[in-house]
Amino acid sequence: MAFKRNKITIVGAGFVGATAAHWAAIKELGDICLIDIIEGMPQGKALDLAEAAPVEGYNCEIIGTNNYEDTKDSDIVIITAGLPRKPGMSRDDLLEKNTAIVKAVTEQIAKYSPNAVLIVVSNPLDAMVYVAHKVSGFPTNKVLGMAGVLDAARFRTFIAMELDVSVEDVNAFVLGGHGDSMVPLPRYSTVAGIPLPDLLPPDKIEALVDRTRKGGGEIVSLLKTGSAFFAPSASVIAMAESILKDQKRVFPCAAYCDKEYDVGGYFVGVPVKLGGNGVEQVIEIKLTPEEKEAFDKSVEAVRQLVKKINV
Ligand code: NAI
Ligand code: 2OP
Repeated sequence: MAFKRNKITIVGAGFVGATAAHWAAIKELGDICLIDIIEGMPQGKALDLAEAAPVEGYNCEIIGTNNYEDTKDSDIVIITAGLPRKPGMSRDDLLEKNTAIVKAVTEQIAKYSPNAVLIVVSNPLDAMVYVAHKVSGFPTNKVLGMAGVLDAARFRTFIAMELDVSVEDVNAFVLGGHGDSMVPLPRYSTVAGIPLPDLLPPDKIEALVDRTRKGGGEIVSLLKTGSAFFAPSASVIAMAESILKDQKRVFPCAAYCDKEYDVGGYFVGVPVKLGGNGVEQVIEIKLTPEEKEAFDKSVEAVRQLVKKINV
């Protein structure tokens, strides 16, 4: 019987893309194809990663390329191509340039891997998932975006730091768009099952929520030349793993919502079940009037951004 490994293509071999390839290799999720427009760079990074395999002991083929034919028949395609933020820039400032890049990339991917699941990372995230969906014409369960796993991971980190407990015992949920109006949900955030509001006073929780909302900017202002990449790449690979292994994990992801949460046909951060079919379910949770108001405000910000897109 012929055995076939999963094939993961990562578009954009920059900080997020190359580090995602690193996590995917260590987890042996499948063969990896790293593609970028810069000649030699994806080939160099892929070869370097392949040469780490004997040391770390992972088995997978890793190639770098500038040619989309090499991405043919991928099971998952992670799109990280695009410009990252510089200090003082918002994610939305990237809209025009990254729309053109994500459009061009998606056309090629749809041509060579018509059955793939597309996970978009490029910013502004919720708008770029919309572009990838529109251009690919793929079913909505097969196009999604990474943001909530990262935002929730940041919230979890800050909660664990504040309480001096293991991050492993901290769960958190962040909904809405991946922007300054994202909606961290303390009520649905727990430490070993204990709701956060039972452990911290409101002002402390509000400070952690605020730091989470500004978490991307915090890293940008420290790095000065780019944006976060370790936690973002780990987050997108956790999503890819759940799909490739049909784990059916529940993550906050930018998924297509029409009647769900009354969103009306946009991709926004909601809890979803990720399995072999991609987005297998959007889970609707009850929101308080205040939470719903914050969620609607965040969705409105996504709607306004998508309105400016012409693809
Ligand atoms: P980077 O600049 O290190 O890498 C981007 C790569 O994309 C570069 O190597 C560039 O050559 C490549 N690229 C540009 N146009 C391309 C094209 N047409 N085809 C193929 N490759 C192309 O940037 P980094 O840090 O890896 O970030 C990538 C994107 O991910 C940015 O838009 C950033 O804002 C976004 N991001 C999103 C996060 C999220 O939570 N959704 C978290 C972190 C980053
Ligand atoms: C982040 O949140 C820049 O969106 C990226 O780190």
